[in-house]
Amino acid sequence: MTGNASKTTASFIQISDDDKGYPLDQFCIPKHYEEDLERVLIPEGLINDRTERLARDIVADFGNEPIVVLCVLKGGYKFFTDLVDKIKVLNRNSGHSVQLGIDFIRLKSYVNESSSGKIEVIGGDNLENLKGKNVLIVEDIIDTGRTMQQLLELMTSVQPKCVKVASLLLKRTPASVGYIPNYIGFEVPNLFLVGYALDYNEFFRDLSHICVINSTGKEKYSVKQ
Ligand code: HPA
Ligand code: MG
Repeated sequence: MTGNASKTTASFIQISDDDKGYPLDQFCIPKHYEEDLERVLIPEGLINDRTERLARDIVADFGNEPIVVLCVLKGGYKFFTDLVDKIKVLNRNSGHSVQLGIDFIRLKSYVNESSSGKIEVIGGDNLENLKGKNVLIVEDIIDTGRTMQQLLELMTSVQPKCVKVASLLLKRTPASVGYIPNYIGFEVPNLFLVGYALDYNEFFRDLSHICVINSTGKEKYSVKQ
């Protein structure tokens, strides 16, 4: 690692608690979700622009060292593909070139709005392949931080050279264990968010913008436990 890899305070765009976002009728929302959302909080265009900057920061930090980008499925897939695409553009057009390996892990911990506690690895490549590598974990959202804490614990056992975490969103929640990722797109209020691959019981992944779900949506797509 070169550059400012040792920096400890990540910068991010802060979305305040009283941010009204945007009314749904100012954007294109799939008809099948129109009555299930309260508002648009982060339009996809803004996510795209922020991701471009995160890609630049990552490339600057890793210098010319190869990295393995580890996508946390399923929620991380949109941010992952867009981030990787932007790093590829920089590899073609900037002085830097960071060779990318691609890997996936699938975890399960959420039902309805709450984490079931312990994470479960339910798919992905063999983590042993990450031994000695620079690993960049790509996640959609850090909420309490417990999932990431457990994943990082799991990672230490495979002895990578270094591990960094990029999360598109960091939620401001009193339930936080205090975990802060290395790269953050947006710090968001303590609301349940969907869209841009973030789901509520597997729905809303096909929504482009990050939106606040409403009570109709929560009711309609709840899982009876
Ligand atoms: N939305 C979707 N998935 C999540 C969230 C959220 O707000 N928090 C943790 N996982
Ligand atoms: Mg997730």
